[in-house]
Amino acid sequence: MAKRILFTGGSGKAGRHVVPYLLGKGYRVLNVDLVPLDHPGVDNLVADITDSGEMFNAMTMYAGFDEMEPGTGVPKLDAVVHFAAIPRILIRPDNETFRVNAMGTYNVIEAAVKLGVRKIVVASSETTYGVCFSDGETDPRALPLEEEYDVDPMDSYGLSKVVNEVTARSFQRRSGADIYALRIGNVIEPHEYELFPGFFADPKVRRRNTFCYIDARDLGQIVHLCLEKDGLGFQVFNAGNDTNSVNLPTKEIVERFYPGVPVTRELGEFEALYSNRKIREVLGFREEHDWRKYVKG
Ligand SMILES: NC(=O)c1ccc[n+]([C@@H]2O[C@H](COP(=O)([O-])OP(=O)(O)OC[C@H]3O[C@@H](n4cnc5c(N)ncnc54)[C@H](O)[C@@H]3O)[C@@H](O)[C@H]2O)c1
Repeated sequence: MAKRILFTGGSGKAGRHVVPYLLGKGYRVLNVDLVPLDHPGVDNLVADITDSGEMFNAMTMYAGFDEMEPGTGVPKLDAVVHFAAIPRILIRPDNETFRVNAMGTYNVIEAAVKLGVRKIVVASSETTYGVCFSDGETDPRALPLEEEYDVDPMDSYGLSKVVNEVTARSFQRRSGADIYALRIGNVIEPHEYELFPGFFADPKVRRRNTFCYIDARDLGQIVHLCLEKDGLGFQVFNAGNDTNSVNLPTKEIVERFYPGVPVTRELGEFEALYSNRKIREVLGFREEHDWRKYVKG
């Protein structure tokens, strides 16, 4: 039987690549979003993550008419992947960004856990590290950025993502389900590699992202690996590609853009300052979409 996945926010920038990746792996995917995703093979349900009742309903409904045919009721969900959010500051008022992201994530995780779903993957963010949306130019306390870092954002979006990680951890303790939070880096869709020459010409534009990028299709692989790897309890994973989003050696990036910031371990010549070591070692991630495939360095 194909795994049955409920995916929130699948119509957005990241989801519209991750959902097709999962369909390609043979999963059945019900996309729950305010707007449908127009893609062959995906089931859509228009629902609002800030409404707890709608989330409990979404997780107890048929994904499509065909599921009514066996006459055995609504099949169980194997996993919930939660991407729906207001994806940064300065789109909605700060309090609304916080409300939608924090309450929406609470509602999705609560419904999933209370309905017995044993695997939940939630989208956290690079902004938790407090560099991205900081007032002024902020240095990280150490590099590379790794998951043990004491996250301390000063903006409402980054704060909502830190709160969501705590929510996930709390529900994991209560239920024993696996809940993995992906600290997603700056998502790059296939057509966005045209931006990279601009990054090379003015690398400082990547400073707030700690020079990170994650190819949207490689993010699909990471979500897939999370869905296939059981038994890890609560986990936080950085989701980024192997190298930085500019054509400079890592040592030079640190010297030019983060002088004086301690580097806590030996890094490869181009190794990402936004470390993806944990997804490589724990999940077996192997990047397929290095920017060098699409852009001349
Ligand atoms: N894009 C990035 O670079 C990036 C980086 C780090 C983390 N993230 C996180 O990854 C996830 C996906 O980001 P994205 O760039 O695809 O964002 P996006 O805004 O393109 O997509 C988010 C989707 O969520 C839906 N949505 C918003 N509010 C909703 C609600 N109340 N109920 C139901 N659906 C709702 C939207 O309709 C949209 O389709 C988000 O959680 C975001 O915070 C994104």
